[in-house]
Amino acid sequence: MSEITGSKIRKILDSRGNETVEVEIFTEFGRGVSAAPSGASKGSNEVKDYPEGGIDQSIKIFRSEISKSIIGMESSDQAGFDRYLESADGTDDFSNIGGNLAVALSLANAFATSDELGVPLFRYLGGINARMTTPLGNVVGGGKHAVNGTTIQEFLIASHSGNVYEAIRANSMVHKRIKERASKELDIPVGMGDEKAWVLPFDDEKVISMVKEAAEEISEKTGLTIENGMDLAASNYFEKGHYVYRNSRLTREEQVDFVEGIVKDRGYTVIEDPFDENDFESFAELTKRVGDKATIIGDDLYTTNYDRLQKGIGKRASNAILLKPNQVGTLSRLLKTWKLAKDNGMSVVVSHRSGETTDYFIAHLAVAIGADYLKTGTVGGERIAKLNELVRIQEEMGGQE
Ligand code: PGA
Ligand code: ZN
Repeated sequence: MSEITGSKIRKILDSRGNETVEVEIFTEFGRGVSAAPSGASKGSNEVKDYPEGGIDQSIKIFRSEISKSIIGMESSDQAGFDRYLESADGTDDFSNIGGNLAVALSLANAFATSDELGVPLFRYLGGINARMTTPLGNVVGGGKHAVNGTTIQEFLIASHSGNVYEAIRANSMVHKRIKERASKELDIPVGMGDEKAWVLPFDDEKVISMVKEAAEEISEKTGLTIENGMDLAASNYFEKGHYVYRNSRLTREEQVDFVEGIVKDRGYTVIEDPFDENDFESFAELTKRVGDKATIIGDDLYTTNYDRLQKGIGKRASNAILLKPNQVGTLSRLLKTWKLAKDNGMSVVVSHRSGETTDYFIAHLAVAIGADYLKTGTVGGERIAKLNELVRIQEEMGGQE
Protein backbone atom coordinates (compact mmCIF):
# COMPACT_ATOMS: atom_id res chain seq x y z
CA MET A 1 0.00 0.00 0.00
CA SER A 2 2.76 2.46 0.90
CA GLU A 3 6.15 0.90 0.55
CA ILE A 4 9.27 2.76 1.57
CA THR A 5 11.16 3.71 -1.58
CA GLY A 6 14.13 5.60 -0.14
CA SER A 7 15.60 7.59 2.71
CA LYS A 8 18.22 10.21 3.53
CA ILE A 9 20.10 11.36 6.57
CA ARG A 10 21.94 14.57 7.39
CA LYS A 11 23.46 16.37 10.34
CA ILE A 12 21.71 19.55 11.43
CA LEU A 13 22.11 21.74 14.52
CA ASP A 14 19.74 21.88 17.45
CA SER A 15 18.78 24.97 19.46
CA ARG A 16 21.95 24.71 21.58
CA GLY A 17 24.10 24.52 18.46
CA ASN A 18 24.80 20.82 18.98
CA GLU A 19 24.80 18.35 16.11
CA THR A 20 21.80 16.09 15.67
CA VAL A 21 20.40 13.78 13.00
CA GLU A 22 17.59 14.57 10.59
CA VAL A 23 16.07 11.71 8.61
CA GLU A 24 13.86 11.72 5.53
CA ILE A 25 11.77 8.77 4.43
CA PHE A 26 10.07 8.48 1.05
CA THR A 27 7.16 6.37 -0.12
CA GLU A 28 5.72 6.48 -3.63
CA PHE A 29 3.61 9.58 -2.92
CA GLY A 30 4.78 10.52 0.56
CA ARG A 31 7.71 12.17 2.32
CA GLY A 32 8.37 12.34 6.04
CA VAL A 33 11.11 14.23 7.83
CA SER A 34 12.04 14.27 11.49
CA ALA A 35 15.00 15.34 13.64
CA ALA A 36 16.00 14.15 17.09
CA PRO A 37 16.01 16.56 20.06
CA SER A 38 18.36 16.21 23.03
CA GLY A 39 18.10 16.54 26.81
CA ALA A 40 20.41 18.18 29.33
CA SER A 41 18.62 16.96 32.42
CA LYS A 42 18.16 13.34 31.42
CA GLY A 43 16.70 10.50 33.44
CA SER A 44 19.15 7.65 33.96
CA ASN A 45 16.75 5.13 32.43
CA GLU A 46 16.51 6.74 29.01
CA VAL A 47 17.82 4.93 25.94
CA LYS A 48 21.33 5.94 24.80
CA ASP A 49 21.26 8.83 22.35
CA TYR A 50 24.32 7.63 20.37
CA PRO A 51 26.45 4.51 20.23
CA GLU A 52 30.14 4.50 20.97
CA GLY A 53 31.60 6.60 18.17
CA GLY A 54 28.78 9.17 18.53
CA ILE A 55 26.61 10.66 15.83
CA ASP A 56 29.02 9.65 13.04
CA GLN A 57 28.71 6.01 14.00
CA SER A 58 24.87 6.26 13.84
CA ILE A 59 25.12 7.84 10.39
CA LYS A 60 27.52 5.13 9.23
CA ILE A 61 25.15 2.37 10.36
CA PHE A 62 22.26 4.12 8.66
CA ARG A 63 24.10 4.42 5.34
CA SER A 64 25.63 0.97 5.29
CA GLU A 65 22.71 -1.04 6.64
CA ILE A 66 19.42 0.56 7.69
CA SER A 67 18.79 2.66 4.56
CA LYS A 68 19.04 -0.53 2.48
CA SER A 69 17.01 -2.78 4.78
CA ILE A 70 13.99 -0.47 4.98
CA ILE A 71 13.48 -0.30 1.20
CA GLY A 72 10.27 -2.15 0.39
CA MET A 73 9.00 -2.15 3.97
CA GLU A 74 5.36 -1.20 4.48
CA SER A 75 5.48 2.27 6.04
CA SER A 76 1.91 2.09 7.36
CA ASP A 77 2.96 -0.83 9.54
CA GLN A 78 4.51 1.44 12.18
CA ALA A 79 4.76 -1.38 14.72
CA GLY A 80 6.61 -3.55 12.19
CA PHE A 81 8.93 -0.69 11.28
CA ASP A 82 9.70 -0.03 14.95
CA ARG A 83 10.29 -3.74 15.59
CA TYR A 84 12.79 -3.70 12.75
CA LEU A 85 14.64 -0.79 14.45
CA GLU A 86 14.80 -2.80 17.68
CA SER A 87 16.14 -5.85 15.88
CA ALA A 88 18.68 -3.80 13.90
CA ASP A 89 19.98 -2.55 17.24
CA GLY A 90 19.75 -5.77 19.23
CA THR A 91 19.78 -4.16 22.71
CA ASP A 92 17.03 -2.68 24.88
CA ASP A 93 18.52 0.78 25.07
CA PHE A 94 19.52 1.42 21.44
CA SER A 95 23.18 1.48 22.40
CA ASN A 96 24.22 0.06 19.03
CA ILE A 97 22.41 2.29 16.53
CA GLY A 98 21.61 5.20 18.89
CA GLY A 99 18.20 6.25 20.24
CA ASN A 100 18.41 9.53 18.35
CA LEU A 101 18.71 7.75 15.01
CA ALA A 102 15.92 5.37 16.01
CA VAL A 103 13.52 8.12 17.03
CA ALA A 104 14.19 10.24 13.92
CA LEU A 105 13.51 7.18 11.74
CA SER A 106 10.42 6.13 13.66
CA LEU A 107 8.81 9.57 13.55
CA ALA A 108 9.84 10.27 9.94
CA ASN A 109 8.15 7.00 8.98
CA ALA A 110 4.87 8.07 10.62
CA PHE A 111 5.10 11.46 8.89
CA ALA A 112 5.72 9.75 5.52
CA THR A 113 2.68 7.51 5.94
CA SER A 114 0.37 10.39 6.81
CA ASP A 115 1.69 12.28 3.80
CA GLU A 116 1.17 9.24 1.56
CA LEU A 117 -2.40 8.92 2.81
CA GLY A 118 -2.99 12.66 2.46
CA VAL A 119 -4.21 13.09 6.04
CA PRO A 120 -2.72 15.31 8.75
CA LEU A 121 -0.44 13.46 11.15
CA PHE A 122 -2.67 14.03 14.20
CA ARG A 123 -5.59 12.46 12.31
CA TYR A 124 -3.53 9.53 11.00
CA LEU A 125 -2.30 8.76 14.54
CA GLY A 126 -5.40 9.71 16.52
CA GLY A 127 -8.39 9.13 14.25
CA ILE A 128 -11.62 10.44 15.71
CA ASN A 129 -10.13 10.47 19.21
CA ALA A 130 -7.85 13.41 18.43
CA ARG A 131 -8.54 16.45 20.57
CA MET A 132 -6.83 19.78 21.19
CA THR A 133 -4.36 19.97 24.06
CA THR A 134 -3.36 22.73 26.52
CA PRO A 135 0.02 24.45 26.12
CA LEU A 136 2.23 24.19 29.20
CA GLY A 137 5.40 26.28 29.14
CA ASN A 138 8.18 27.53 31.34
CA VAL A 139 8.60 31.22 32.06
CA VAL A 140 11.51 31.05 34.53
CA GLY A 141 14.26 28.46 34.30
CA GLY A 142 17.28 27.26 36.19
CA GLY A 143 18.74 23.92 37.24
CA LYS A 144 20.66 22.27 34.42
CA HIS A 145 19.17 24.65 31.85
CA ALA A 146 20.85 27.82 33.15
CA VAL A 147 23.79 28.76 35.33
CA ASN A 148 23.06 30.96 38.38
CA GLY A 149 19.30 30.60 38.10
CA THR A 150 16.81 29.00 40.47
CA THR A 151 17.46 25.52 41.85
CA ILE A 152 14.04 24.46 40.59
CA GLN A 153 14.50 23.78 36.88
CA GLU A 154 11.26 25.15 35.46
CA PHE A 155 8.45 27.45 36.56
CA LEU A 156 5.54 26.48 34.34
CA ILE A 157 2.23 28.02 33.40
CA ALA A 158 -0.75 26.67 31.45
CA SER A 159 -3.48 28.94 30.14
CA HIS A 160 -6.80 27.30 29.37
CA SER A 161 -8.91 28.42 26.44
CA GLY A 162 -11.17 26.83 23.84
CA ASN A 163 -9.05 28.75 21.34
CA VAL A 164 -5.51 27.40 21.52
CA TYR A 165 -4.04 30.56 20.01
CA GLU A 166 -5.44 32.57 22.93
CA ALA A 167 -3.89 30.12 25.39
CA ILE A 168 -0.49 30.26 23.67
CA ARG A 169 -0.63 34.05 23.63
CA ALA A 170 -1.58 34.29 27.30
CA ASN A 171 1.38 32.07 28.19
CA SER A 172 3.70 34.38 26.26
CA MET A 173 2.16 37.38 28.03
CA VAL A 174 3.08 35.90 31.41
CA HIS A 175 6.62 35.34 30.08
CA LYS A 176 6.78 39.00 29.04
CA ARG A 177 5.32 40.25 32.30
CA ILE A 178 7.99 38.42 34.28
CA LYS A 179 10.74 40.05 32.28
CA GLU A 180 9.25 43.49 32.97
CA ARG A 181 8.99 42.84 36.69
CA ALA A 182 12.45 41.30 37.01
CA SER A 183 14.22 43.94 34.91
CA LYS A 184 12.61 46.69 36.94
CA GLU A 185 13.66 45.14 40.20
CA LEU A 186 17.19 44.28 39.10
CA ASP A 187 17.76 47.39 37.05
CA ILE A 188 19.58 45.25 34.45
CA PRO A 189 18.22 43.25 31.50
CA VAL A 190 17.63 39.56 32.21
CA GLY A 191 18.66 36.68 29.94
CA MET A 192 17.18 33.34 28.90
CA GLY A 193 18.16 29.71 29.50
CA ASP A 194 18.13 26.71 27.15
CA GLU A 195 14.34 26.64 26.81
CA LYS A 196 13.97 30.43 26.51
CA ALA A 197 12.69 30.88 30.04
CA TRP A 198 14.12 33.78 32.07
CA VAL A 199 17.13 33.15 34.26
CA LEU A 200 16.67 35.10 37.49
CA PRO A 201 19.22 35.55 40.27
CA PHE A 202 16.51 35.09 42.93
CA ASP A 203 15.90 32.24 45.31
CA ASP A 204 13.13 29.74 44.58
CA GLU A 205 10.76 31.12 47.24
CA LYS A 206 10.73 34.55 45.66
CA VAL A 207 10.16 33.18 42.16
CA ILE A 208 7.27 31.00 43.39
CA SER A 209 5.41 34.20 44.38
CA MET A 210 6.56 36.23 41.42
CA VAL A 211 5.32 33.79 38.78
CA LYS A 212 2.05 33.27 40.64
CA GLU A 213 1.43 37.03 40.70
CA ALA A 214 2.32 37.47 37.03
CA ALA A 215 -0.06 34.63 36.10
CA GLU A 216 -2.83 36.23 38.16
CA GLU A 217 -2.32 39.56 36.43
CA ILE A 218 -2.53 38.03 32.96
CA SER A 219 -5.44 35.87 33.98
CA GLU A 220 -7.34 38.99 34.99
CA LYS A 221 -6.37 40.75 31.77
CA THR A 222 -7.33 37.89 29.43
CA GLY A 223 -10.15 36.31 31.42
CA LEU A 224 -8.47 32.91 31.08
CA THR A 225 -7.78 30.43 33.86
CA ILE A 226 -4.00 30.12 34.20
CA GLU A 227 -2.49 27.25 36.16
CA ASN A 228 0.88 27.50 37.86
CA GLY A 229 3.26 24.59 37.85
CA MET A 230 6.88 23.57 38.16
CA ASP A 231 9.34 20.91 37.07
CA LEU A 232 11.61 20.55 40.07
CA ALA A 233 13.86 18.02 38.23
CA ALA A 234 14.84 17.17 41.79
CA SER A 235 17.25 14.33 40.92
CA ASN A 236 19.70 17.05 39.90
CA TYR A 237 20.04 18.47 43.41
CA PHE A 238 19.48 15.39 45.54
CA GLU A 239 22.81 14.93 47.26
CA LYS A 240 23.52 12.39 49.98
CA GLY A 241 19.89 12.15 51.09
CA HIS A 242 19.19 15.89 50.96
CA TYR A 243 17.62 18.31 48.50
CA VAL A 244 20.10 21.17 48.32
CA TYR A 245 18.63 24.63 47.59
CA ARG A 246 20.41 27.97 47.55
CA ASN A 247 19.44 28.79 51.15
CA SER A 248 18.30 25.47 52.55
CA ARG A 249 18.95 21.76 52.70
CA LEU A 250 15.87 19.56 53.01
CA THR A 251 15.58 15.93 54.07
CA ARG A 252 13.31 13.65 52.03
CA GLU A 253 10.47 14.19 54.51
CA GLU A 254 10.97 17.96 54.48
CA GLN A 255 10.90 17.96 50.68
CA VAL A 256 7.49 16.22 50.76
CA ASP A 257 6.21 18.89 53.19
CA PHE A 258 7.76 21.67 51.07
CA VAL A 259 6.05 20.51 47.87
CA GLU A 260 2.78 19.86 49.71
CA GLY A 261 2.93 23.53 50.78
CA ILE A 262 3.56 24.67 47.21
CA VAL A 263 0.29 22.99 46.23
CA LYS A 264 -1.84 23.78 49.28
CA ASP A 265 -0.59 27.25 50.24
CA ARG A 266 0.75 28.66 47.00
CA GLY A 267 -1.87 27.24 44.65
CA TYR A 268 0.45 25.40 42.23
CA THR A 269 -1.47 22.62 40.46
CA VAL A 270 1.10 21.03 38.13
CA ILE A 271 4.12 19.38 39.81
CA GLU A 272 6.76 17.46 37.83
CA ASP A 273 9.62 15.38 39.29
CA PRO A 274 9.45 16.71 42.87
CA PHE A 275 11.77 13.93 44.10
CA ASP A 276 14.76 11.88 43.06
CA GLU A 277 14.08 9.57 40.10
CA ASN A 278 14.28 6.44 42.26
CA ASP A 279 12.25 7.71 45.19
CA PHE A 280 8.87 6.14 44.29
CA GLU A 281 7.93 6.27 48.01
CA SER A 282 8.08 10.07 48.33
CA PHE A 283 6.14 10.41 45.07
CA ALA A 284 3.46 8.12 46.52
CA GLU A 285 3.31 10.09 49.77
CA LEU A 286 2.85 13.40 47.93
CA THR A 287 0.24 11.92 45.59
CA LYS A 288 -1.64 10.60 48.62
CA ARG A 289 -1.60 14.04 50.23
CA VAL A 290 -2.38 16.31 47.26
CA GLY A 291 -3.19 14.05 44.29
CA ASP A 292 -6.79 15.35 44.35
CA LYS A 293 -5.61 18.96 43.98
CA ALA A 294 -2.63 18.72 41.62
CA THR A 295 -1.27 16.86 38.62
CA ILE A 296 1.79 15.01 39.92
CA ILE A 297 3.95 14.11 36.91
CA GLY A 298 6.78 11.60 36.57
CA ASP A 299 9.39 12.48 33.93
CA ASP A 300 12.83 11.25 35.06
CA LEU A 301 10.85 8.88 37.30
CA TYR A 302 9.42 6.95 34.32
CA THR A 303 11.44 8.08 31.28
CA THR A 304 8.44 7.02 29.12
CA ASN A 305 9.44 3.44 29.99
CA TYR A 306 6.65 0.82 30.25
CA ASP A 307 8.24 -1.17 33.08
CA ARG A 308 9.03 1.93 35.13
CA LEU A 309 5.44 3.13 34.73
CA GLN A 310 4.10 -0.26 35.76
CA LYS A 311 6.20 -0.06 38.91
CA GLY A 312 4.88 3.47 39.57
CA ILE A 313 1.28 2.36 39.12
CA GLY A 314 1.82 -0.49 41.58
CA LYS A 315 3.08 2.02 44.14
CA ARG A 316 0.50 4.72 43.28
CA ALA A 317 3.49 7.04 42.78
CA SER A 318 1.85 9.72 40.62
CA ASN A 319 -1.34 10.60 38.79
CA ALA A 320 0.37 11.71 35.57
CA ILE A 321 3.23 10.87 33.21
CA LEU A 322 5.42 12.92 30.87
CA LEU A 323 6.04 11.34 27.46
CA LYS A 324 9.13 12.14 25.35
CA PRO A 325 9.67 10.08 22.18
CA ASN A 326 13.46 10.11 22.38
CA GLN A 327 13.48 8.72 25.92
CA VAL A 328 12.46 5.35 24.44
CA GLY A 329 13.48 5.62 20.78
CA THR A 330 10.29 4.58 18.94
CA LEU A 331 6.73 5.77 18.54
CA SER A 332 5.40 2.26 19.26
CA ARG A 333 7.14 2.10 22.63
CA LEU A 334 5.78 5.53 23.56
CA LEU A 335 2.24 4.55 22.57
CA LYS A 336 2.45 1.34 24.59
CA THR A 337 3.42 3.33 27.70
CA TRP A 338 0.70 5.89 26.96
CA LYS A 339 -1.92 3.14 26.76
CA LEU A 340 -0.88 1.79 30.15
CA ALA A 341 -1.16 5.29 31.62
CA LYS A 342 -4.60 5.85 30.09
CA ASP A 343 -5.89 2.43 31.18
CA ASN A 344 -4.94 3.44 34.71
CA GLY A 345 -6.69 6.80 34.56
CA MET A 346 -3.55 8.91 34.56
CA SER A 347 -3.14 12.36 33.02
CA VAL A 348 -0.68 12.65 30.16
CA VAL A 349 1.79 15.35 29.14
CA VAL A 350 3.68 15.20 25.83
CA SER A 351 6.99 17.07 26.09
CA HIS A 352 9.84 18.67 24.18
CA ARG A 353 13.51 18.41 25.24
CA SER A 354 15.73 21.31 26.23
CA GLY A 355 17.71 20.95 22.98
CA GLU A 356 15.17 21.14 20.13
CA THR A 357 14.84 21.62 16.39
CA THR A 358 11.86 23.06 14.54
CA ASP A 359 10.41 19.53 14.20
CA TYR A 360 6.75 19.71 15.27
CA PHE A 361 5.91 16.02 15.55
CA ILE A 362 5.08 16.35 19.26
CA ALA A 363 2.32 18.90 18.54
CA HIS A 364 0.54 16.31 16.39
CA LEU A 365 1.27 13.55 18.87
CA ALA A 366 -0.22 15.51 21.78
CA VAL A 367 -3.44 16.13 19.82
CA ALA A 368 -3.58 12.57 18.45
CA ILE A 369 -3.51 10.98 21.90
CA GLY A 370 -5.62 13.69 23.51
CA ALA A 371 -2.82 14.63 25.92
CA ASP A 372 -3.88 16.91 28.74
CA TYR A 373 -0.88 19.17 28.09
CA LEU A 374 1.85 19.79 25.54
CA LYS A 375 4.92 21.02 27.41
CA THR A 376 7.01 22.96 24.92
CA GLY A 377 8.07 26.32 26.33
CA THR A 378 6.41 29.68 25.74
CA VAL A 379 8.68 31.48 23.24
CA GLY A 380 11.77 30.85 21.05
CA GLY A 381 11.72 29.64 17.43
CA GLU A 382 12.14 25.93 18.16
CA ARG A 383 9.33 26.05 20.80
CA ILE A 384 7.09 28.33 18.72
CA ALA A 385 7.40 25.83 15.82
CA LYS A 386 5.31 23.41 17.90
CA LEU A 387 2.94 26.00 19.35
CA ASN A 388 2.16 27.55 15.97
CA GLU A 389 1.52 24.05 14.62
CA LEU A 390 -1.18 23.66 17.31
CA VAL A 391 -2.85 26.77 15.89
CA ARG A 392 -2.84 25.21 12.40
CA ILE A 393 -4.11 21.91 13.78
CA GLN A 394 -7.01 23.63 15.52
CA GLU A 395 -7.89 25.32 12.24
CA GLU A 396 -7.73 21.94 10.50
CA MET A 397 -10.04 20.49 13.16
CA GLY A 398 -12.52 23.23 12.32
CA GLY A 399 -12.01 25.08 15.58
CA GLN A 400 -13.30 22.03 17.42
CA GLU A 401 -12.05 21.49 20.97
P1 PGA B 1 15.87 17.87 29.32
O1 PGA B 1 14.83 18.09 30.49
O2 PGA B 1 16.91 18.93 29.50
O3 PGA B 1 16.46 16.51 29.63
O4 PGA B 1 15.18 17.91 28.02
C1 PGA B 1 13.60 18.68 30.38
C2 PGA B 1 12.75 18.18 31.52
O5 PGA B 1 13.29 17.78 32.57
O6 PGA B 1 11.52 18.15 31.40
ZN1 ZN C 1 11.28 17.16 33.53
